[in-house]
Amino acid sequence: MSMAEQAFDQYREDVAGRANVADTPELIAYYQRLRSMATGALWTVANKIEPWEPAPSSVPMLWRYADLREDVLRALELVTPEQAGRRVVYLENPGRSDVVAAVGWLYSGLQVMAPGECASSHRHSASALRFIMEGSGAFTNVDGHKLTLGRNDFVLTPNGTWHEHGVAEDGTVCIWQDGLDIPLMNALEANFYEVHPELNQAVSFPVDDTTATWAGSGLRPAGMEWNKRYSPMLKYEWAATYHALTDLARVSDGSPFDGIIMDYVNPATGGSGMPTIGAQMQLLRPGERTKAHRQTGCFVYQCAKGKGWSVINGTRFEWQERDIFVVPAWMYHEHANASDSEDACLFAFHDLPVMRALGLYREEAYGENGGHQPVLQ
Ligand SMILES: [Fe+2]
Ligand SMILES: [Fe+2]
Repeated sequence: MSMAEQAFDQYREDVAGRANVADTPELIAYYQRLRSMATGALWTVANKIEPWEPAPSSVPMLWRYADLREDVLRALELVTPEQAGRRVVYLENPGRSDVVAAVGWLYSGLQVMAPGECASSHRHSASALRFIMEGSGAFTNVDGHKLTLGRNDFVLTPNGTWHEHGVAEDGTVCIWQDGLDIPLMNALEANFYEVHPELNQAVSFPVDDTTATWAGSGLRPAGMEWNKRYSPMLKYEWAATYHALTDLARVSDGSPFDGIIMDYVNPATGGSGMPTIGAQMQLLRPGERTKAHRQTGCFVYQCAKGKGWSVINGTRFEWQERDIFVVPAWMYHEHANASDSEDACLFAFHDLPVMRALGLYREEAYGENGGHQPVLQ
């Protein structure tokens, strides 16, 4: 083996306070002896494992719905929900294929179901969400609460809750985006999975009772106790969400980085809907172009309405309705609405609740060039 292949000093940095030890034959022999005992000298890897700032292995990506849709539908012919458990085409970030993540520690996929189909009930440590892309008649049953789902509705299946999905007999083929923190649960080595002993669960409450109870904006059902760690509302309907955004747009300039943006929250606490995954919907007014910023935590976006483009870490991505794109942690991103007459809406879920809970949240504006990144490609 040549010296180059044995290099232990590839992460040296000539900066005070950082590891900076050149290899010598004596040191290399020492490092090899340490390695034979399943140990190592920290200074050979310290600069790698403690980067100056987050160094995500995820890359910015965009998946065009027009490219994926036919193959998602093809899965209907190839496997049944009984065989597959969940009939899903997942999104794989080339930098995260080892953990099956779309970005960072977040998983995402496109699930398809035909009228009359119902997948078996199960529960897991991972927290899950769904954003409805197309079709009618979809429903989810979460711990006995049956939620009917339409286009651009957002629904939670919090960790530990029994849940199953299906499409009514008189519905149409439905496609929705799943989002889960499966990679995070596996990284924490805390992931359990159970199939419901009866395969399907009963509907134990009036249909859509969670929104009827909790979705009155600014109103809270008196005397209703809620102590669980997730939102009792479970479903957030598109009509009310879009209405809230357009109302806010009338009276506010919004964020210079995100336009008019609202978080989907737990109405009982004002906090995120689930402990590990947060979600937001933002509206970019006609012609709006935001400035770049970056945050700890990563984002999976779906265009819910309109068309536009985003610059992520210097790369420009064009998007239109149903396209999905990801922003890895600590990468600058900015968004633009391509239309001068119509608004554009971006749904996103993210791991900011984890960043905040652990005291890791940071945010930084791009300071140069009027707040816009140079576009490299
Ligand atoms: Fe699930
Ligand atoms: Fe942002």
